[in-house]
Amino acid sequence: MSIDSATPVRAVEGAVPVRTATKRTVLMCKPQFFTVVYRINPWMDPALPTDTSLAVTQWQTLYDTYVGLGFDVQLIDPIDGLPDMVYAANGGFVIDNQAYGAKFTHVQRQPEGPAYMDWFGANGFDVRVPVETNEGEGDFLLVGDVILAGTGFRSDSNSHAELSAIAGRPVITLRLVNPSFYHLDTAVAVLDDTNIAYLPSAFDAPSLAILQERYPDAVIVTEEDAAILGLNSYSDGYNVVIAARAKDFERQLRVRGYNPIGVDLSELLLGGGGVKCCTLELRR
Ligand code: ARG
Repeated sequence: MSIDSATPVRAVEGAVPVRTATKRTVLMCKPQFFTVVYRINPWMDPALPTDTSLAVTQWQTLYDTYVGLGFDVQLIDPIDGLPDMVYAANGGFVIDNQAYGAKFTHVQRQPEGPAYMDWFGANGFDVRVPVETNEGEGDFLLVGDVILAGTGFRSDSNSHAELSAIAGRPVITLRLVNPSFYHLDTAVAVLDDTNIAYLPSAFDAPSLAILQERYPDAVIVTEEDAAILGLNSYSDGYNVVIAARAKDFERQLRVRGYNPIGVDLSELLLGGGGVKCCTLELRR
């Protein structure tokens, strides 16, 4: 694995843009109690076996990758009986030191909301207890100064206005239509402050029109890459940590001057999550 942290690369050919990495602070949760015992998305099948120690090993590779990129990686203690807690992205949305808490759709995950809010409070964030149902960075993605917000399967669209008032930023509602891409971070990847990658078929027509208009240079991923949650990735502006199997996405990123870094989280895919799901950005 070659990691080129925070060093802006000079484009060799004029056509390849120069990308700049910025150091990130993220929150992660070790999948010590990971398993699939309920089904709240089409990826999950409680009849299939899971291997918790393999999940931990794979997750550790993601953790080590972030550390290698110079990130400040914080950890929240996993809780026995909350197998989806590894998907830290869903724990809230953090901006300007304010932590807007999550209020989960499905009863199985509801105790995670207070658990993450306790962590935010104990770590000096100003906790904003949510009124509306929302699943944090699973459905809220900051792109520059706007927040793209998903709805349709998990986060209630009322949470979009709630977050907009707290964050003081425009929130753009996008409606997801394919149950396999039930969170926005399974259908959109933020590459930097001005560009994204996405899967067009995951959105209804008005939402797709918004994306096409706002991001004419977006990376359009293949159905094949999306089908292994290839879009569920995390970028520091230059290094983009992606699913190792998302080969065409990797190619497209390289062409555009990003540095894709493949990580295999096949075990966590059994719960319907990937790289981004395991990553919650903390913005002080
Ligand atoms: N099993 C979890 C759920 O269905 C997976 C969450 C994935 N997280 C994400 N940010 N997409 O809620």
